[in-house]
Amino acid sequence: MRIVLGVTGGIAAYKAVLLLRLLREAGHDVRVVPTRAALEFVGRPTWEALSGQPVTTDVFEDVDQVAHVAIGQRADLVVVAPATADLLARAATGQADDLLTATLLVTRAPVLVAPAMHTEMWQHPATVANVATLRERGVHVLEPASGRLTGADTGPGRLPEPEEIAAAALALVGPRDLAGRHVVVSAGGTREPLDPVRYLGNRSSGRQGVALARTAAARGARVTLVGANLSVPAPHGVDVVPVETAAQLRDAVRSAAKDADVVVMAAAVADYRPVSPAGTKLKKTGVPPVLELVETVDVLAELAHDRLRDGQVVVGFAAETGDDDASVLEHGRAKALRKGADLLVVNAVGDGQGFGTTENDVTILDGSGTVVARTSGSKDAVADVIWDTVRDLG
Ligand code: CTP
Repeated sequence: MRIVLGVTGGIAAYKAVLLLRLLREAGHDVRVVPTRAALEFVGRPTWEALSGQPVTTDVFEDVDQVAHVAIGQRADLVVVAPATADLLARAATGQADDLLTATLLVTRAPVLVAPAMHTEMWQHPATVANVATLRERGVHVLEPASGRLTGADTGPGRLPEPEEIAAAALALVGPRDLAGRHVVVSAGGTREPLDPVRYLGNRSSGRQGVALARTAAARGARVTLVGANLSVPAPHGVDVVPVETAAQLRDAVRSAAKDADVVVMAAAVADYRPVSPAGTKLKKTGVPPVLELVETVDVLAELAHDRLRDGQVVVGFAAETGDDDASVLEHGRAKALRKGADLLVVNAVGDGQGFGTTENDVTILDGSGTVVARTSGSKDAVADVIWDTVRDLG
C-alpha cells in the first residue's frame, strides 16, 4: 500500500521516525512529507534513508513531477503525525501553502491525523472547532494521550504511541474480519503478594498481549483486555480490566469469557502463590524464611475444559527455554496436548528473547501439537498472524 506520512513541526516528530519504521516493516511504501518546521526537529536524511524515497516539503520542488498533486492522488492512506495546531488550522481552512496541505486537499484516500501540542492549544476553541470541521469532513482525528508534555507540564496533548497510530491508520484500510466478534485477551504478569510490599512476580511486560488487543480492535473486534501489571499503555478502544494476582485474573477472564468468541491467554500467570501472605511487612530476623507455596488454578486448561460458550476458541501461550530433556518445540508440543487449547503460541525465551522486547518469533501449534504457522517480526505483526490463524479456524 502507498502511504503518505505527513510530519509537522513539534517535539514529537521524533516519534514519527518510529511510526515510519513500523509502517515500512508492515510492508508498505511510505512517502514522507514533512513541513519545513518539521525539518527543524528531524532532518531530511533521516526521512530519506528510512523511507527510501525522496523527501520534499515545498510545492516548488520536483515541479516536473507535479508532486503537489501526484503524491495525494497516488496515496492509499494519509497519516499526519504529529499534527500541530497550525496544521489542523490550515487543513480545516483548506489551505495549500506547502506540499503537505496541498496533498491533503488533493487526496481522496482515508486520512488519519494524530495531534500533539500543549494542552492549552488543544483545548482552545479555535483548535476544537478545527478538529470538529475535519471530523465532519471524514478525517479521522486521534485523541491525544495525556501525560508529560515538552516542558514540566502535563495534560492531554501528547502524541499517542507509534504502535497506536500505526494500528489506527491501518485499521482505516485494513480488513474488518473480526467485526462482530468479542475477544478476551489476558496480558502482563501476575504478582502474588508475600506481604504488603513484596510479591512473587515475573518479567512479562504485557507487550504481546497488548499488541493482540490492539490489532483485534483494529480488525473490528470488541476487545476485553485483562491486564496484569502492564508496563506498556493499554490501547485505546478496548475495555481494560486491571488485575494483580492469578486469582483476580482467573475471575476477570472467566467473567468476560462467558460471551466471548475467542479467549487468548497471553498473560504470564503465576503457577504458585504464597499460602498466606503476611498482613504486615515481614521483618529481617536473621533466619531466612522458608516460603510455603500453593498451586494456582491453571486458567487456560480450565477454560479449554469448560468451554464457557459454544464454539469458543481458546488460545494459549508457551514461553519455553530448551533444556537437556527437550527442545523449545518439544516442550511446546507436550504443553499443547496437556492444556487442551485450540492453539498454542510457542516462543523461546531467555537470552534476550521474548520478555520486554519489541520483536517476537513464534510457532503456532494446534491442539494436537502440529505446527500450523511460524512467524517473526514486531509484536503487532505476530499478533496479526495469530488472528489470521484464529479466523481460519472458522
Ligand atoms: N496459564 C494459566 N494459568 C496458570 C498458568 C499458566 O492460564 N496458572 C496459561 C498462560 O497464560 C499461558 C499458558 O498457560 O497461556 C502456558 O503458561 P506456562 O507458564 O508456559 O505453562 P505452565 O503450565 O505453567 O507450564 P511450565 O511452567 O511447566 O512450563
